[in-house]
Amino acid sequence: MSKITAAITAVSGYVPETKMTNKDLEQIVDTNDEWIFSRTGIKERRILKEPSTGASDLAAPAVLDLCKKRGISPEEIDLLIVGTVTADYNFPSCANIVADKVGAKNAWSFDINAACSGFIYSLSTGAQFIETGKYKKVVVVGVDKMSSILNYEDRTTCIIFGDGGGAVLLEPNEEGNGIIDFQLHSDGSGVHYLHQPAGGSVKPASAETVANNEHSVHQEGKQVFKFAVTNMADVSEEVMLRNNLNGDTLDWLVPHQANLRIIDATANRLNLSPEKVMINIEKYGNTTAGTIPLCLWEWEPKLKKGDNIILSAFGGGFTWGAVYLKWAYNS
Ligand code: UT7
Repeated sequence: MSKITAAITAVSGYVPETKMTNKDLEQIVDTNDEWIFSRTGIKERRILKEPSTGASDLAAPAVLDLCKKRGISPEEIDLLIVGTVTADYNFPSCANIVADKVGAKNAWSFDINAACSGFIYSLSTGAQFIETGKYKKVVVVGVDKMSSILNYEDRTTCIIFGDGGGAVLLEPNEEGNGIIDFQLHSDGSGVHYLHQPAGGSVKPASAETVANNEHSVHQEGKQVFKFAVTNMADVSEEVMLRNNLNGDTLDWLVPHQANLRIIDATANRLNLSPEKVMINIEKYGNTTAGTIPLCLWEWEPKLKKGDNIILSAFGGGFTWGAVYLKWAYNS
């Protein structure tokens, strides 16, 4: 019997309607469109502004659309994994809420907290349950409502992030397509460069933590930039080399959308021509775990069965990695 691989058989995404442009941000903090666009490549981002809505409200429409596209009932889902750092609550998990909202009554579900690497961590984890033959349908979501943890007085962070996410369905494949290889890393010594200082067990919420804006993203941008450029390129190259891929045989790079300069540096290191690199940062900004599935969703009509694709991310933790997959279907 041929080896079972876990293949993506459908992809969907969701972004909220409300756009926040660089011009809008000029009214809020001391910044300007020229600075933001030239330093990051971002023009606008989406914001989930309706009260009492959370990451699950971004994920659920994507999962429902995914099921519709594939012609399956949510009750057929065996396992649902959500990569996120902005779950609706500290507990229960966002995945539990999403499963309930979509009617995935027979699934068990859990979150993976790996910041911007959340989707590739979740995808690699979900794939194991398919490869072992244990499950037939695993849904993997990458989603974040970053606007819920931003300080809109901090121009170094609030201009970067946006809200949105996407979902993929994993099913068994015996044609040799699907997830072929992955390499993931973490290094917790990076905590102080990119984190949310309060609200966890070290510093529970208090009047003081709120007054000091410690419930929002704190980032030492320059430091994170240096680590991201090196590590995203290194890990992508490593996975490509051991799978005999090069700039010609790779069809697509799907990089985490944190900064256009990081994406360009990674693509250059891999000798990739620009048309092979998925980039939509100008429209959505950095949606943390949402960026990679949002790219796959947008590019899905162009993807062909057998395409060689590298997904690559770097984020808080630090966490980083690359996944090599062969696309399993023509749209
Ligand atoms: O997705 C998770 C991983 N995160 C990342 O990969 C993000 C990595 N880091 C970055 O993308 C970049 O470091 C940033 C976009 C965050 C910042 O860009 P930078 O080129 O590293 O700028 P900088 O922090 O060195 O700041 C340069 C100057 C400073 O002014 P002075 O000290 O040179 O006078 C900042 O105060 O730009 C100033 N500045 C701004 N000016 C206008 C910082 N933010 C802004 C702003 N508008 N929004």
